[in-house]
Amino acid sequence: MASIKVGIIGGTGLDNPDILLERTEKRVITAYGEPSDSLVCGKIGNVDCVLLARHNRQHGVSPSFINYRANVLALKEEGCTHLVVTTACGSLQEHIHPGEIVILDQFIDRTYRRECSFYDGKEGHLKGVCHIAMGHPFCEPLRELLVETVKSLNISCHHKGTVVTIEGPRFSTRAESKLFKSWGADVINMTTVPEVVLANEMGLPYAAIAMPTDYDSWKEDEDHVDVELVRKTLKKNSENAMKILKAFIPKLATTDWQPILNSWKERAEKAVFA
Ligand code: ADE
Repeated sequence: MASIKVGIIGGTGLDNPDILLERTEKRVITAYGEPSDSLVCGKIGNVDCVLLARHNRQHGVSPSFINYRANVLALKEEGCTHLVVTTACGSLQEHIHPGEIVILDQFIDRTYRRECSFYDGKEGHLKGVCHIAMGHPFCEPLRELLVETVKSLNISCHHKGTVVTIEGPRFSTRAESKLFKSWGADVINMTTVPEVVLANEMGLPYAAIAMPTDYDSWKEDEDHVDVELVRKTLKKNSENAMKILKAFIPKLATTDWQPILNSWKERAEKAVFA
């Protein structure tokens, strides 16, 4: 059975290192620069994990300026075999309520000022052009196990969901929010792209636990989103993210991941035109 190590990228208000036992902290630097924060290495159950705060625990890095490449590469170089991430988001659908969980399965990319490939032709970076397949950006077996875990905890869970990732840092106008909703998107955030794309380029199976905190700006009978609303809902629900990870990670170790790791690696390698 393949040995595993799980990289956990924690979103705003969801990056508490107390979740790990036997913690050690480590600052690293990659060929693509510095990750958002120190890596916190430790264990959940018997499973080795590495936690990274996406926005930095002290300073708060804006979504456009997060070094997504350094974050993903740092976790890969630390030996992580999987990436499981948390992300706050807005809900674009009436039936997805703040406080529930959405296990993402698709994205729509509305970002425009981010480095979205490791293969950029620059000195010291990966060579060639990477046309990574994106039909299924999220790892299906990881998703299934997450859904099973969330259900077993009696937390209300949507089995799939399309996220629109916007550039931010501003929230959407009502017109934009209604447009995204009319496209059939389920939730909205500022960070899934390019993080998931880069995990795919690195051959790292990736899954995301999305936590709706608000109804964005489309809903006539609700306050539109603001920072206070996001903070308030996250405070109420961040315990759920911890509970899910604590139950989920030990379950991961009971599966033989080798065939899945092999297929993600092979897909990433085949995507590169050298
Ligand atoms: N994060 C939390 N709520 C959000 C929203 N409505 N739009 C974008 N990112 C968010």
